[in-house]
Amino acid sequence: MNATTATLTATVTKAVIPVAGLGTRFLPATKATPKEMLPVVDKPAIQYVVEEAAAAGLEDVLMITGRNKRAVEDHFDNNTELEHALATKGDTARLDAVRRVTRLAHMHHVRQGEPLGLGHAVLCARSHVGDEPFAVLLGDDLIGPGEGLLERMLRVRARYGGSVVALMEVAPDRTHLYGCAKVEPAGGAGSAYDAHDPLVRVVDLVEKPAHGTAPSNYAVIGRYVLDPAVFGLLEKAQPGHGGEIQLTDALRELAHSDDHPVHGVVFSGRRFDTGDRASYLRTIVELACERPDLGPDFRSWLTDFVRAGHEAPGG
Ligand code: UTP
Repeated sequence: MNATTATLTATVTKAVIPVAGLGTRFLPATKATPKEMLPVVDKPAIQYVVEEAAAAGLEDVLMITGRNKRAVEDHFDNNTELEHALATKGDTARLDAVRRVTRLAHMHHVRQGEPLGLGHAVLCARSHVGDEPFAVLLGDDLIGPGEGLLERMLRVRARYGGSVVALMEVAPDRTHLYGCAKVEPAGGAGSAYDAHDPLVRVVDLVEKPAHGTAPSNYAVIGRYVLDPAVFGLLEKAQPGHGGEIQLTDALRELAHSDDHPVHGVVFSGRRFDTGDRASYLRTIVELACERPDLGPDFRSWLTDFVRAGHEAPGG
């Protein structure tokens, strides 16, 4: 960690990553495996997320796991048998790759007994987090490496306190898939945090608004920096949209209060939603094309494939 990062994260040291959802959109693949363990090229999605937290200086990582916790725990733990086999073969590249995963962060796990919703999953982090601000990274939401979104959000928290959400503009016909924010310019009209990521004040939030009712096109994506005040609200929260305890509902209460501001960092960089099948496939293609080892061959195959004009059978 360099000195600048250390300063930015002085008050936020912990990352919480919920991975206890049912992943129904990926059934039957997710019957016995969390969707966050599905491979994106040759790493599970969750590894990219832990790498992002560690790069932002958050090396204390709490996973909120569900019934399939084994696979997630094992991935970040030593595998002496495998390491021994790779060492014996002299396969140092793969041995390094396997060992590097275990050194990314200090991993902790807590079980969410039942998948009662994202808000409930976050509440499960309370005893580990204590009375400190903390980051939440959704385990199926990837942010392009080097985008620095989390670092910017930590900076906003350090400057303004309260909680911070990441917002992305989406097409009006997609707002019903997200939590949507009603926003005002932060600190008065015309003020912006920086040219690339304007900062806004969130004044209201709605989880998955019905078509045509979204307060804006600003969708909440899977990165949060939360004030511990959120725990008290989650504890009292009633099931909301879809019968689940929604984080959005607790954040809305914070946004309505005067003493806990909720800011939004507007993000326009690269984000990959690996919880949705079509988006998952696009993620793999895009990231594989960028890989120095696989990219050149894969791109040339892909170009031929597209040129050949493949259609669905019978299409
Ligand atoms: P999603 O709503 O995208 O995940 O939750 P899901 O419910 O697993 O997916 P589908 O819709 O059935 O396919 C966002 C994140 O919150 C976690 C999920 O694992 C995912 O990373 N989550 C959700 C929990 O940890 N617990 C929950 O009760 C719900």
